[in-house]
Amino acid sequence: MRANKAVVPAAGLGTRFLPATKAQPKEMLPVVDKPAIHYIAEEVIASGIDDLLIVTGRGKRAIEDHFDRSIELEQLLEGNPSLRELQDLLDRLQVFYVRQGRPLGLGHAIACAERHVDQENFAVLLPDDLYLSDEPALAQLLAAAEELDAPVVAVREVQPQDVHRYGIIAPLPEGGLREGVHRVEDMVEKPDLEKAPSRLAVVGRYVLPPSIFGHLRATQPGAKGEIQLTDALRALCKERPVYAVEVRGERYDIGEPLGLLQAQIGFALVRADLGDGVRELLRSML
Ligand code: UTP
Repeated sequence: MRANKAVVPAAGLGTRFLPATKAQPKEMLPVVDKPAIHYIAEEVIASGIDDLLIVTGRGKRAIEDHFDRSIELEQLLEGNPSLRELQDLLDRLQVFYVRQGRPLGLGHAIACAERHVDQENFAVLLPDDLYLSDEPALAQLLAAAEELDAPVVAVREVQPQDVHRYGIIAPLPEGGLREGVHRVEDMVEKPDLEKAPSRLAVVGRYVLPPSIFGHLRATQPGAKGEIQLTDALRALCKERPVYAVEVRGERYDIGEPLGLLQAQIGFALVRADLGDGVRELLRSML
């Protein structure tokens, strides 16, 4: 199954980053010198997709400004390499927006993409999860979705103490096709460790068929009034085979402050212009 469109839900409130997110989107917090969502756009392009829909909400206008031209800056800083790099990205990517009127959960945010997706398969990237990998995380998933001709979700084995923070898959016994690929029998949202069917957590990348929208519509809001994507994915697993792929590479959970700090360091360490300086800095600080 192939996907030619990508959807990025970015309408959450980002309460874990208050007060930083009071007047700016969480997705615009910088990782070194690019906003987090910029890396997502780069991953989309590097994975061969040029149609990106961002689900935004109130207070998220800076995202649209980022992916737009700034004629004043371009004139003032003619030939600036960072601006040129951004422009190159924009030349290769069509960015669309839809607003989620109220933050009613990740599932609801994805449902807002239905019109744009228009009965096609599509990829979802959560901007809270950044990957540093030789082959882009999304490209790995797209290749698996095509090979298996099935929806796929990215998973990663998490520490026992972190299980309760994630959607966890129940892999089908004997359902492992090869190292790192599992058939998903079921999923549980944020289980207690004792009740978790595995330690394989769903981490921010999906390739989905349009039938997910019907399942999202049928999903009842949970305790906080939010529509969970996990509930719709569970229904999808009953409709057709769904696979989980352990994505190769480093993953950073930048939805919380320590993870963002880790990402800052991880992304800076691999930069030719900053790596040595950061190593030196860390040594001197410790
Ligand atoms: P989170 O669960 O991390 O929520 O959403 P959040 O609001 O962004 O952050 P906290 O927990 O308050 O700090 C996971 C992803 O789903 C998007 C978020 O933008 C994030 O990319 N999302 C969440 C929406 O687009 N809409 C929603 O209603 C909820």
